[in-house]
Amino acid sequence: MPRSDIFVCSKVSHENLHTSDFARSVDESLRALGLDYVDLLLVHWPEKNTPLTETMGALAKAKRDGLARHIGVANFNIAMLDDAIRLCPEPLVTLQAECHPYLDQSKVIAACRARGLVLTAYCPLARGRIQGDTVLTEIGLRHGKTCAQVALRWLMQQDLIAAIPRSSNAARIAENIDVFDFQLDDEDMARIGTLKRPDGRTANPVGRAPVWDM
Ligand SMILES: NC(=O)c1ccc[n+]([C@@H]2O[C@H](COP(=O)([O-])OP(=O)(O)OC[C@H]3O[C@@H](n4cnc5c(N)ncnc54)[C@H](OP(=O)(O)O)[C@@H]3O)[C@@H](O)[C@H]2O)c1
Repeated sequence: MPRSDIFVCSKVSHENLHTSDFARSVDESLRALGLDYVDLLLVHWPEKNTPLTETMGALAKAKRDGLARHIGVANFNIAMLDDAIRLCPEPLVTLQAECHPYLDQSKVIAACRARGLVLTAYCPLARGRIQGDTVLTEIGLRHGKTCAQVALRWLMQQDLIAAIPRSSNAARIAENIDVFDFQLDDEDMARIGTLKRPDGRTANPVGRAPVWDM
């Protein structure tokens, strides 16, 4: 497969956000991947003990050095995202954040759109929890699609949202890609929008997670 046909994303973790650690971490990731560059490089979580100016400078340098085609951040709240945009010498293209039908991320989605960023939806299947959902299943039956496909379609049909489902199963990987030949109507979209729950968040590490925009 030509390298240009795949889009590889890697992240720098919270313990490597100082300038020298950052560069070493990127080098280690590239070596482990056997690649000269990644398509997208993200800061994995915000880290209050490391000056953001330093981290954003290191992230921009990775891009300028040709080690990443695009850069962004993950798990930043909106205020942190604004700081990151202001302090980064290179443009950010995405905020990667948890996003699926069980979590109300409307504020974050709106903030990304207003800033011209893609919201990369991680855990788009709520880590498998949407499996068997009655509403998603019923909508899927009408379209000849599965619960997971409906959840993914709901995300991708919204402006500036990309979804990154994970599966270790070849058939489910194929299923998750097969979502570009059907369209949810406004009523389907609105119904799925009512599935959000107060306990919908699945990634919320104590001591690391910022104050989320809810
Ligand atoms: N930036 C961050 O902090 C962060 C945090 C969490 C996750 N992520 C990223 O988000 C991506 C996905 O996250 P995730 O794996 O946690 O959650 P997910 O994609 O929402 O769910 C994955 C789970 O759903 C199952 N699954 C996948 N496709 C399915 C299908 N078609 N039907 C039924 N079940 C299905 C998988 O099982 P099988 O493997 O058995 O199919 C797995 O248990 C990953 O690339 C991950 O790196 C990022």
